[in-house]
Amino acid sequence: LNILFTASEVVPFAKTGGLADVAGALPKVLAKLGHNVIVVMPRYYSIDKSKLEHIVGPLGVPMGPMGELWAGVYKDTLPGSDVPVYFIDYEKFYGRSGLYADENGFSYPDNDLRFIFLSKAAFQLAKKLAFRPDIIHAHDWHTAAQPALLRTRYAFDEQFEDAASVLTIHNLQHQGHFFKGIMDVMEVGWEHFNPYEFEAMDGVNMLKGGIAHADAVTTVSRKYAHEIQTPEFGFGLDGHIRAHSDKLYGILNGIDYDEWSPAIDPFIKKRYDIDDMSGKALCKRDLQERFGLPVWDDVPLIGFVGRFAEQKGIGLIAGAIEGLMHLNIQIVMLGTGEKWAEGFFSEIARRYPEKFACHVGYSNELAHIIEAGSDLFLMPSLFEPCGLNQIYSLRYGTLPIVRATGGLDDTIHNYDPGTKKGNGFKFYDATTDALYHTVKWATDICRYEPEAFRLMQKQAMEARFDWEKSAEAYEDLYYHSLYAKRVSNY
Ligand code: ADP
Ligand code: GLC
Repeated sequence: LNILFTASEVVPFAKTGGLADVAGALPKVLAKLGHNVIVVMPRYYSIDKSKLEHIVGPLGVPMGPMGELWAGVYKDTLPGSDVPVYFIDYEKFYGRSGLYADENGFSYPDNDLRFIFLSKAAFQLAKKLAFRPDIIHAHDWHTAAQPALLRTRYAFDEQFEDAASVLTIHNLQHQGHFFKGIMDVMEVGWEHFNPYEFEAMDGVNMLKGGIAHADAVTTVSRKYAHEIQTPEFGFGLDGHIRAHSDKLYGILNGIDYDEWSPAIDPFIKKRYDIDDMSGKALCKRDLQERFGLPVWDDVPLIGFVGRFAEQKGIGLIAGAIEGLMHLNIQIVMLGTGEKWAEGFFSEIARRYPEKFACHVGYSNELAHIIEAGSDLFLMPSLFEPCGLNQIYSLRYGTLPIVRATGGLDDTIHNYDPGTKKGNGFKFYDATTDALYHTVKWATDICRYEPEAFRLMQKQAMEARFDWEKSAEAYEDLYYHSLYAKRVSNY
């Protein structure tokens, strides 16, 4: 199949979260399965264009009343593959320091234009390259205009005639709400501005329109596919999603074991694996030293890596922290985001220098060091479409403590003292009490039942969440969508 894959962030070129990991990994595996994939993303300022190949000739992108805008196109490949990545270069939209927001966290006011531009540029590029896609795979609200564009603006383009569209929802919280005037820029036709398609509260909701028009919609875990059909997790779109549930699928993300395996990890103090865990103890010491904590071998050490966003349960951690600091444990946190959280956790670190440390910032190296050096990994998310860190943790024998939601619920099996089975610890209620007691339970097992803990680590490390399996599920869905589209065209 020819697959046109457009995303707002792609590892290793630009990343703010797991979407980039997925967009950097899935195309490679699809290519290994024999498909022809091209990836399209913006050329943000942080991507050095002197290292990219310049594609000759500017690319015209129609933007309704703004006329045709001319973009530059650069090219590279996904590392370790020959999957091409095309970078859309347009100074006025992407010549900024951030991907979506400025350094103070304020979203850029023209994000609607920036990503409609990207969504259309991908079509225009396919034309220029004479690439005839079978599948147009869009991700999150940023490229959610594509399914509608395929059915309207590009419907009579011979090149796109047979293509089907797939929209993957990585996070329903961000839907792309904008002023309705952008209907003109999108050029899908005002007849699609209604409550069943793009309209929400007299504005445009990009994701809503994408869900309405995609031939298939996926989320990144099965549990999340169910959850988003309920008011609790639907962020106002649960009714709309229920109306389209016949084309909704949950496909769990894989992870890249070439990057996340303690046996080959270049960042960690001492490599280790299931047969010889001695290196993990050294990694724990290294972690304590780097974060300025006393080196206590037998005190359970809990790690956290993630965006400081409400989604990640930072409010729960903050609420439980005083109680947790009375337990005989240590906690290290790595993250950035909400300013209150950055300040709050830094203050806790000052007050409990022997038990708590926090690094405010983004560091892939530290993320690896935390995964390897911690005994337990805390991920108390309020919602979690998939979550990657708990899956990395499993591979490092770092048992996750999670809230039973979305991908966390699908990947973590609660410890059962009867059967001695389980790969982590789960709680259900989004309360500080539930979090506190689950942390206490997990750290007690870690400290006082080392054999049970060791057995759990073994189960965790043996599990595999390979991309191959997920990519095959996407492949099946691609064929299914094409077939369904063909049948409905008769
Ligand atoms: P989300 O996409 O919601 O942020 P995921 O668990 O899917 O959550 O993916 C987060 C990704 O970003 C992981 O690869 C994680 O290691 C990485 N990450 C998040 N915050 C940081 C940070 N402060 N430093 C390094 N890596 C981070
Ligand atoms: C989103 C979700 C996260 C998921 C990631 C990749 O950012 O918050 O749970 O793992 O996308 O699909």
